[in-house]
Amino acid sequence: MSKKIAIIGATSGIGRALARELHSRGHHIGATGRRIERLEELKQELERHISVTYMDVTNHENAINQLEQLKQKMGGIDTIVLNAGISNYQKAVGREGDLQIIDVNIRGFANLTAYSFSMFYKQGHGHIVGISSVASLFGWGLSAPYSASKAFVNTYLQGYRQKANHSDADIAVSTILPGFVKSEMTDGKKGMFWIAETEEAATQIADAIRRKKNWSYVPKRWRLVSWLIKLIPNWVWDRL
Ligand SMILES: NC(=O)c1ccc[n+]([C@@H]2O[C@H](COP(=O)([O-])OP(=O)(O)OC[C@H]3O[C@@H](n4cnc5c(N)ncnc54)[C@H](OP(=O)(O)O)[C@@H]3O)[C@@H](O)[C@H]2O)c1
Repeated sequence: MSKKIAIIGATSGIGRALARELHSRGHHIGATGRRIERLEELKQELERHISVTYMDVTNHENAINQLEQLKQKMGGIDTIVLNAGISNYQKAVGREGDLQIIDVNIRGFANLTAYSFSMFYKQGHGHIVGISSVASLFGWGLSAPYSASKAFVNTYLQGYRQKANHSDADIAVSTILPGFVKSEMTDGKKGMFWIAETEEAATQIADAIRRKKNWSYVPKRWRLVSWLIKLIPNWVWDRL
């Protein structure tokens, strides 16, 4: 069934590939991001059933207004994919960098999730999809705020999933945990393995959205790795 799917952070990488994949499956796509020229390119490429709106998720009130504008352009929203995210892996770390990640990956994310839940509750249905990371499963010295921000995504969405279970609206909440995916975020990073192409990641994320999966590892082999990671005791992580 054709759906109206808003993708927050669709100007590059996973978000842009997902926009193309979901569009090819017959859905109407709403794409957002700060690089408006990329959004216009995507609009020209896909031609029909695509609406675009500028959005900086760190500007909370504007982000909500822009989501409402996007909803009007699309004639409604059935699903929202909260994909916008940044990392500081291997870059100089410090207070400012940490706070920037928290602003985008936690505050920007929570602002749109909470608003979307209310919006979906009022309309009686909806699907919230959050893009987390396998990095959420442990603390990581090379990017402490990033892995912590993604752990927030997991726990926060789990809470919203329970909220949805207890509501009388038909709301689904999905948490997607990608492993390494080739994108601007990972460009030039060292020490990566099992790097997936964005198209492969997008296909599997689109499948998980269709099936309304609660938790989905992308590519799937990361599910097994996650089980192993969860078996590692804290004292091991603490010594790394
Ligand atoms: N690549 C990986 O290996 C990997 C693994 C696990 C999880 N993830 C997650 O997947 C998601 C997408 O990452 P990616 O790898 O595709 O990286 P990417 O190519 O850098 O894409 C990041 C997206 O987030 C948007 N964004 C960043 N800051 C924003 C802001 N302040 N307001 C609005 N949009 C903002 C960007 O749009 P603008 O810059 O145009 O605003 C862009 O569309 C992220 O949440 C990331 O944490 C990635």
